[in-house]
Amino acid sequence: MATFQLLFPLLVSCVVASASPPRHLPPCQVVQTDVFCSDLSLRSAPLDLPDGVQMLDLSQNQVQNLTQETLAFHTSFRHLNLNSNKIHFIQPGLFRDMTDLRVLDLSRNHLNVFALSKTSIGPLTAVESLDLSSNGLYTGMSDYFLADSPSLASLSLNSNSITKIAKNTFNGSSLLQKISLHNNVILEIEDGAFDFLRNLTELDLSKNSINCIIDFNLYHLRMLNLSKNSMERFQSASHSHAYKLLYLDLSENKMLYFPYLPRHNVLEYLDVSRNCLQTVDISENPDKRIPVIVTHLKYLDMSYNHLQSIPESFFCFMGSLEVLNVSNNCIGSFSISNEGLLSNVRIINLSYNSLQSLTFGENTLQTLEKLFLQGNDLTTLDPGVFQRLPSIRYLQLQQNSVEICTSDPDQEEPESAGCVSFSSVPNLHFLYLSENNLHTLPANAFANTPLKLLDLSLNPGLVMDQEALSGLELSLVHLLLRENNISSLNTDLSLLKSLKHVDLSTNQLTSIPMWNEESSIESLNLQNNNLVTLESSTMLALERSLKTLYMGSNPLNCCSNLGFLHMVRRSAVVVPDIKTVTCVHEAFLEPVNIEQLEEGMCQVSGTPVYVIIILVLLAVLITLGLLVKFCHSKKRKRNRGFRA
Ligand SMILES: *[C@@H]1O[C@H](CO)[C@@H](O)[C@H](O)[C@H]1NC(C)=O
Ligand SMILES: *[C@@H]1O[C@H](CO)[C@@H](O)[C@H](O)[C@H]1NC(C)=O
Ligand SMILES: *[C@@H]1O[C@H](CO)[C@@H](O)[C@H](O)[C@H]1NC(C)=O
Ligand SMILES: *[C@@H]1O[C@H](CO)[C@@H](O)[C@H](O)[C@H]1NC(C)=O
Ligand SMILES: *[C@@H]1O[C@H](CO)[C@@H](O)[C@H](O)[C@H]1NC(C)=O
Ligand SMILES: *[C@@H]1O[C@H](CO)[C@@H](O)[C@H](O)[C@H]1NC(C)=O
Ligand SMILES: *[C@@H]1O[C@H](CO)[C@@H](O)[C@H](O)[C@H]1NC(C)=O
Repeated sequence: MATFQLLFPLLVSCVVASASPPRHLPPCQVVQTDVFCSDLSLRSAPLDLPDGVQMLDLSQNQVQNLTQETLAFHTSFRHLNLNSNKIHFIQPGLFRDMTDLRVLDLSRNHLNVFALSKTSIGPLTAVESLDLSSNGLYTGMSDYFLADSPSLASLSLNSNSITKIAKNTFNGSSLLQKISLHNNVILEIEDGAFDFLRNLTELDLSKNSINCIIDFNLYHLRMLNLSKNSMERFQSASHSHAYKLLYLDLSENKMLYFPYLPRHNVLEYLDVSRNCLQTVDISENPDKRIPVIVTHLKYLDMSYNHLQSIPESFFCFMGSLEVLNVSNNCIGSFSISNEGLLSNVRIINLSYNSLQSLTFGENTLQTLEKLFLQGNDLTTLDPGVFQRLPSIRYLQLQQNSVEICTSDPDQEEPESAGCVSFSSVPNLHFLYLSENNLHTLPANAFANTPLKLLDLSLNPGLVMDQEALSGLELSLVHLLLRENNISSLNTDLSLLKSLKHVDLSTNQLTSIPMWNEESSIESLNLQNNNLVTLESSTMLALERSLKTLYMGSNPLNCCSNLGFLHMVRRSAVVVPDIKTVTCVHEAFLEPVNIEQLEEGMCQVSGTPVYVIIILVLLAVLITLGLLVKFCHSKKRKRNRGFRA
């Protein structure tokens, strides 16, 4: 009897071995009790699996029938990965005795074929995590897999074709904590389908076709993702029950009104971006204009909607808000004047609206660090608006039409109207002012503001005062002056001791700014200017610190820039646009790429010719001199002769 028991598996092994093509398969990798057999064209697990194997990765193989044989009669698995096979049949009851099996991945198979046979796979005794994604399953088919899954905590049914969640869909898996139904075509959820799942905390219904939720009553849920549906309404069932919801993602829907949230909520994250909000009211009915109470909310995204205004009162019960994104709307005016509002906000994104007015009252927004205002219509601002923001570090104001106030460093408050002052903003490090149609940059424009980055690009015709950057000597690291039509810089950049990155591309510069040995410039962009000659002492001074140099599209003269060419060849400076760095050489009709330039090419037509000419001239002069002397002495001799 004992012999028979030993023989039996061997016999089966032989049968299985002869059934599959006699091909030598590359071996699986075995690491202790884990076996990795991914992508080996296998139809079943290898027969020599070690005893007590706990993890088997059979993903990306050719398994069709999942039976005891295919798993080589092992039942000790804790983790089975069968993703991306061709499984269309599972032996009923296969997992009953796998009392250690916790993780089962059956994604990317053909389990819809199995479901058509209307057979159940039997109990998933201990399985806690089951992945059935991408199996072509449609409504009702999940029943054959879930009917008896008492330990199931996490289930993925992503990327199937389910249209309806029935009342009893999850009846056999009442301990579920997390369900993912992303990318199906769910149109309907029957009343009570999730109600009895007491432990459910995460529900992902993103990318479906749900168009409204009117009785949201999953009090225990922490995460609800409804992104990419056709939601027009979201309404909580009870205004008085306490909800545990922390994350609600309603982005990319068709919401016309702000979601109707329960009064007792602890919501921290709310995304309503890319919807059709025209107002922050919760319904069109004026009687229902109750305040939005989200005292725990930290993140609110309402970008890409059609909001024209946001009344200050909307923020009354948002004391915890840290990030507010209302960009890409049609907001014309934004104002926070009440001291208590948004007292924890760090980031406000108001970019791409039609802001003409922006008002922050005294002592408001004391924690604001980043303010994004690009792409608006700001022209006149309360001149001291930014001085009142003690924590502001990062300010994006590009694509507006602001003018910068002339500031008198001795005066505390700038007085002139119709401009914005950037002096004495105590923590401002990053300032973007490109595309503002700036005409002038007055002296001391940034005095007492510790800017590290200043972007003044795309303000063609900008006239910078000689002292415009004074005050930034020790702080400024990045300076961007791209596309400003500058023909000569009248500001001495060598005074900016911390400057490392300078962009002067697309201007009309005929000479490079002067730098001396003390410069610490690391990257310099001089692309697309009018440079003919590069001042060699400056180039030598730069060479010490320079790492990257952009030089393309300049009418350089080949032979007067030999110093530069040497620098490119022998130093560690990288010239990323070297393919477009050309120079003009009299011997060639077309500009020559500097990589093709050879040392010899300039010695013929350069200095030596000059020297030869001088030598010839000298020789002629000497000869002439000698001739004159000779004639003279002959004459004298003759004269003497006459006398004699
Ligand atoms: C899979 O199992 C079914 C039913 O047991 C059987 O009819 C079929 O021939 C098997 N297919 C393969 C490829 O083993
Ligand atoms: C689902 O479970 C509930 C109670 O847990 C029971 O009343 C109902 O009949 C079950 N439905 C099915 C189809 O098993
Ligand atoms: C499920 O929730 C119940 C209470 O509703 C709790 O006692 C139990 O520990 C939870 N189970 C798990 C696995 O979290
Ligand atoms: C919701 O689902 C979308 C689409 O799958 C995803 O991009 C987004 O990150 C999810 N939201 C949250 C809060 O996890
Ligand atoms: C909204 O702005 C915040 C902060 O600036 C950012 O993290 C988020 O990605 C933005 N939302 C969208 C939809 O881009
Ligand atoms: C501001 O929000 C927009 C979306 O409306 C986003 O694309 C942008 O990245 C955000 N800005 C920052 C700096 O986060
Ligand atoms: C750029 O400057 C030149 C003179 O240096 C001027 O003729 C031209 O109109 C300017 N272009 C722009 C766009 O300001």
